[in-house]
Parts: sequence; structure tokens; C-alpha cells
Amino acid sequence: MSTHIEAKKGEIAQTVLMPGDPMRAKWIAETFLKDAHCYNDVRGMLGYTGTYHGKPVSVQGSGMGIPSAMIYYHELINDYGVKNIIRVGTAGSYQKEVKIRDIVLAMAASTTSGINNSRFINADYAPTANFELLLKAASYAKEKGIAIKAGNVLSSDEFYTDDPEDYKLWAKFGVLCVEMEASGLYTIAAKYNIRALAILTISDSLVTGERSSADERESTFRDMVDIALHLL
Ligand code: HPA
Repeated sequence: MSTHIEAKKGEIAQTVLMPGDPMRAKWIAETFLKDAHCYNDVRGMLGYTGTYHGKPVSVQGSGMGIPSAMIYYHELINDYGVKNIIRVGTAGSYQKEVKIRDIVLAMAASTTSGINNSRFINADYAPTANFELLLKAASYAKEKGIAIKAGNVLSSDEFYTDDPEDYKLWAKFGVLCVEMEASGLYTIAAKYNIRALAILTISDSLVTGERSSADERESTFRDMVDIALHLL
């Protein structure tokens, strides 16, 4: 086992879908995978491996925020040999055109986190999606008639910011939505030369103050997971 994951070597597939919420990991495993078994319950951060159309795949909760998620990304890559990580999560819209239930592919992830400015002193690093996964996700969504948007997202270190208008500067520079993990994922994927993509569904809007209902969240989550599983 690794420090935070109790799976045996070989028990985790090379491709892992990662929602923030461990209960979402359980739901994805039970809803989409065949022969899924739970390999991790350390700290309640559930992880499952099963198959999808005969191909092995794992689903692992990441927790909320870059520090929690990076622990799991790091151990999956370094202790379990994971090669593809697909974040499946929710985000808050920063743009009028990005509506509740929309699916966003994060091409790049800006951040308020210090992980890269403490590394690249006096310079900015631009964490980006893996192009092959991005292209495949966009093509599959188009083929299935699932509307997607793609662009820059913000991985914020704070869910509750001081000023509710803070988002407007990011919005002005074209950032589509806010979540809390993608920038950490793209950075660590680059560092260890693995492939990563964050697929997000819009659960709330900073522009209009709307929030999706639990039912709406479930149905858009299905489309997002469908896209993610077709990357296998
Ligand atoms: N802020 C940060 N992360 C989020 C949000 C939000 O409004 N919605 C979903 N994830």
C-alpha cells in the first residue's frame, strides 16, 4: 500500500477517473462498471476497480482542493503506475454563456494556488490538458450530440472568497469557470509525463447565482462520465 491508499500493487488500473467526492466514486463504480470492487477506504476516500466494455478502469475520490487531490495523484502515479487521470468534477460558471449543466473541457488551468509560483520563481507555468485526451473527448461529445465548451478554467484555493466580485477579472480574461483541482492535476501529470484531462459540469453560476438541483447534477454527471469512459 501507499501512504493514503491501501490497494495492492496491480489492483489499480492504468486509467483512473477522479471525482472530488468519494461517494461519487462509489456511484460511478456501481452505475457504470462491471465487477467493481473497492480497493480503498483509508480516510473514507473510496477507490474502485472494475471494467468498462471489458477494459480495466479505476475510480478514485480525490477530496476537495489541490493539496488533497495531489496526494492521490502522486501516489497513483508513483506507487501504482497510473498513466491516465481523468478528473470528473463540478465547477461554478464565470461566463453568461456557460450555463448550468454545461460540460466544460479544461484546456488549461489557471490557479490561485502557490504550487507553481513557488517552483518557477518570478515566472508563470501554464498547466495544460493532454491534447490527445482533449481531442478524443471533444470528438466523442460531438458524435454523441453532447454540447461541450472548452477553454481556460480557474483552480481556486478558496471556495469562499472575500469579495463575490473577484471572479470578474478572471472572467474578463476568458476563464470559463472555477473549480479546485485541475491545475494541480495538469502540473503533476506534466512532471511525471502521464496524460490528464479535467471534464467539468457546471453546477452553479457566479454570474446569475443559480444552482443545479441534485437531479440535474446526476443527469449531467452521467454525460460527463460517459465521455470520460470513452477515453479508455
Ligand atoms: N467554486 C469553487 N469550486 C466549485 C464551485 C465554485 O463555485 N462550484 C463547483 N466547484
